[in-house]
Amino acid sequence: MSMLSQQIETHKTAIQSYTANDVAAVEQFRIAYLGTKGIVKQLLASLKDIPAEQKKEMGQLLNAFKQFVEEKYEALQSATIKTTTSKIKNESIDWTLPGDSMYVGSSHPLSIIRNQIISIFNKLGFAVAEGPEIEDDWHNFTALNLPENHPARDMQDTFYISQNPDWLLRTHTSSVQARVMEQQQPPIRIICPGRVYRNETISARAHCFFHQVEGLYIDENVSFADLKQTLYFFVQEMFGDLSPALSKGEGEVKVRFRPSYFPFTEPSAEMDISCTVCSGKGCSLCKHTGWVEILGCGMVHPNMLSNFNIDPEKYTGFAFGMGVERICQLKYQINDLRLYAQNDVRFLKQFTSAI
Ligand code: DAH
Repeated sequence: MSMLSQQIETHKTAIQSYTANDVAAVEQFRIAYLGTKGIVKQLLASLKDIPAEQKKEMGQLLNAFKQFVEEKYEALQSATIKTTTSKIKNESIDWTLPGDSMYVGSSHPLSIIRNQIISIFNKLGFAVAEGPEIEDDWHNFTALNLPENHPARDMQDTFYISQNPDWLLRTHTSSVQARVMEQQQPPIRIICPGRVYRNETISARAHCFFHQVEGLYIDENVSFADLKQTLYFFVQEMFGDLSPALSKGEGEVKVRFRPSYFPFTEPSAEMDISCTVCSGKGCSLCKHTGWVEILGCGMVHPNMLSNFNIDPEKYTGFAFGMGVERICQLKYQINDLRLYAQNDVRFLKQFTSAI
């Protein structure tokens, strides 16, 4: 008998008497015999040293051995499954008892609203663009038609970074407009969701950081009518289901534009919607006016286009910026801005089903 066939015989005897009481022992068997460094592989590798005239016979022997090992492995597997299930049956466990409840995580309400805003504008072909939260003066102010000493800079209490007076925490997501315009020529159709910072004392109505979604659309022949239609679509998608009037079939959420001032748009406007709580009749949320402001917007200022070598004679555009906390407040009636950042589970878990 050759060396190899002797080895096979010895292994066979060992395998025949191999027993396994649990899954781990079956796995041990598999690794020892069928694993990548297991005995079957080793023996097959030794075939290359066998003299040519014996190769065929030894090859057959090895194949038969391999099959033998595989059958044993299957037999061990099914035997342990049987013993495990009969063990479970014999244990005195009441399988009908309710299990321990699991805490399911939920998206933060601001994330829920941000994602809804993104998906509404996605339908209109707006892509998401992002920019840094630590910005330089150019992208946050100067490029947006707010040169140094411009009074409108005081509208936003800025956090400056002490190491470098040119650096600041962005005060609005309009800075991303500047970043996109320096990279890309029209057509541009983007929204920029993100966190912004202002040096405000924290209270129910103000916070040192909050979230905005900025929108920018630049192409040939973009008009104020396009801006109005886009925002009108947004409002119906976002708030249509909330309007008591709408559910009674009495009409849609109303919008109105008021003239306003932003350095980066001309003309500029602020947009109000009819109060989603009282449907315009007057309540504490809308301070009894029937209207709530939800965003600022306007036609992109020609100076801004020129700042980025976009020809203001050929292209026009609109822009808008909204606060995510505000939309969230109107959707869920959250009246205290501090709740968003306190991580209180009693607050957060109310949004589990809203994902
Ligand atoms: N950046 C403004 C703010 O933070 C919001 C805004 C107003 C953005 C008008 C715009 C716009 O793009 O056109 O208050």
